[in-house]
Amino acid sequence: MVAGMTQSHLRISKAVIPAAGLGTRFLPATKATPKEMLPVVDKPAIQYVVEEAVSAGLDDVLMITGRNKRPLEDHFDRNYELESALQKKGDAGRLAKVQESSDLATMHYVRQGDPKGLGHAVLCAAPHVGNEPFAVLLGDDLIDPRDPLLKRMIEVQEQRGGSVIALMEVAPEQIHLYGCAAVETTEDSDVVKIGDLVEKPDPADAPSNYAIIGRYVLDPRIFDVLRKTEPGRGGEIQITDALQLLAQDEKVGGPVHGVVFKGRRYDTGDRGDYLRAIVRLACEREDLGPDFRTWLRSYVTEEM
Ligand code: UTP
Repeated sequence: MVAGMTQSHLRISKAVIPAAGLGTRFLPATKATPKEMLPVVDKPAIQYVVEEAVSAGLDDVLMITGRNKRPLEDHFDRNYELESALQKKGDAGRLAKVQESSDLATMHYVRQGDPKGLGHAVLCAAPHVGNEPFAVLLGDDLIDPRDPLLKRMIEVQEQRGGSVIALMEVAPEQIHLYGCAAVETTEDSDVVKIGDLVEKPDPADAPSNYAIIGRYVLDPRIFDVLRKTEPGRGGEIQITDALQLLAQDEKVGGPVHGVVFKGRRYDTGDRGDYLRAIVRLACEREDLGPDFRTWLRSYVTEEM
């Protein structure tokens, strides 16, 4: 440990990516394929998430996987057969694309067994993470690479200690789909202090319209809390319930702050948002965008 640093002020280097959920909103596509492998334009959703972790300086990535999750491991591994076929053809461009994902980060995997909820998935990371603060990136939550959020969250954690969650303002009628935070402002306009958290509240009981989105920087003391957290909403062990305990009593594991995100974010586990992500990212791509936008414009004006 660096002299003068407390455990919760160690430099963050590990990212945990839970990807063991059942993906029921996307059936039948997710019957035998993890939803995190569904392509967003031409890259699986999970690759964007790993790239985000790496660009925030985290190149030790632990993925929490489950049944049917083999393709996730294969995607971040070498594929010698494909590589040698592309080499023989002299197709350097595609070869680079194949190699990109296996060269990204140091990947580790652990199986969750039964998907007993996000809190339980995070707890599976405890032996790998040890006693350092760490980041959690949900495998089906895509943050636009041009709107860096995680770097800012890490900075806030390094300044204030404890845990940091990501918040986004949503319409009041949407709040029942998310964890929701009661907040106090701080001297930083994009940072709030969390006083309380509620998982998927009825709009009438919601303390705010700040929704929790899928990025966290957590104090390792959350593991002790998670070990004692009973199944909550939906019979699942909820990360929100453990964070609520931390927010209500700083002595347990430091304060909880929120970074308010105003950038572009897509829930690729939701069919509508998944389609929006593809259309938007395809429109903005230099190679595909010009043709696709022309087609889309004529489709919208002539056929809708
Ligand atoms: P979701 O609730 O969005 O995932 O969890 P889900 O259960 O797969 O989706 P639906 O509602 O059935 O369609 C958010 C993230 O947490 C992971 C999921 O893989 C997803 O990335 N997760 C969830 C786990 O790793 N384990 C769990 O037990 C639950």
